[in-house]
Amino acid sequence: MMTSKTKVLISSALMAALGACAPLDRSRSLENPDVSGKTFTQQACAMCHQADGNSTSPNFPKLAGQSKQYLIDQLTDLRDHKRKNETSAAFMWGMARLSESQIEQVADFYSKQTITAEPLLADPDTLNYGKKLFLEGQADKGVPACATCHGREGEGLGPIPRLAGQHANYIIRQLTVFKTTDDRPRGAPMKYVAHSLSEDDVKALALFLQSSPGKTLQVGTASKP
Ligand code: HEC
Ligand code: HEC
Repeated sequence: MMTSKTKVLISSALMAALGACAPLDRSRSLENPDVSGKTFTQQACAMCHQADGNSTSPNFPKLAGQSKQYLIDQLTDLRDHKRKNETSAAFMWGMARLSESQIEQVADFYSKQTITAEPLLADPDTLNYGKKLFLEGQADKGVPACATCHGREGEGLGPIPRLAGQHANYIIRQLTVFKTTDDRPRGAPMKYVAHSLSEDDVKALALFLQSSPGKTLQVGTASKP
């Protein structure tokens, strides 16, 4: 027998599943510039990036534990339509209509969340190859060590993003954007980097980074999935 409470629970779960645009409608009332950045994160951004910025879908980048300065830079570029790759334009131009202080608050909120670990999705050889490229680069191919800029644990700093723990799918997509377009206005250093990466390099780097959420990055201990 279904209790009425269960029925209510089921019907609201159904509404959430079917009415995917309901939260977007609600977010229209967020046009008021006095709404706090934190309210935005919970009522609008959470739909794709989750309440704590640990998006569960590989289509949406994780924001948890991201560098605050990097988040401010990107949200400003997205709001001003300067970061103009197709996915950014489609998903983020509308969402980033925020004031300077809302951007600061949103960035502060996500930078203070802890990034969650993803399961190891690759074989040890791929992970170790990705790790070696990340830490040492490959001089003969002109690939610089990513760690020089992104930090030994991929933790990021200031205008340089955290990569550790990020969805592999998103990393691959951005490396392609840097390599093949000028759609990210601060992308010049990455265009040079991405230029010399093969498809296999990109995949190994992305899988290694997704499997390594920062401070717990396991140097030399990639284990079987
Ligand atoms: C409908 C889904 C959706 C919503 C809602 C959404 N985002 Fe996004 N967001 C995306 C997608 C997709 C991308 C990746 C764009 C790309 O591939 O360039 C993204 C990218 C970003 C980035 C860039 C991350 C990086 O590592 O460079 C930031 C910052 C961001 N979103 C913040 C927010 C904030 C703040 C909100 C709420 C005001 C929000 N997003 C709402 C889908 C969404
Ligand atoms: C010379 C410094 C430098 C080196 C070396 C470097 N990066 Fe970057 N990277 C940056 C900067 C700066 C950005 C931010 C660009 C922007 O704001 O658009 C960035 C952004 C990225 C992004 C986008 C992240 C996001 O959240 O959207 C990825 C992915 C990335 N780098 C991967 C790598 C990999 C993999 C390597 C090594 C093969 C590497 N980087 C080496 C400076 C560097």
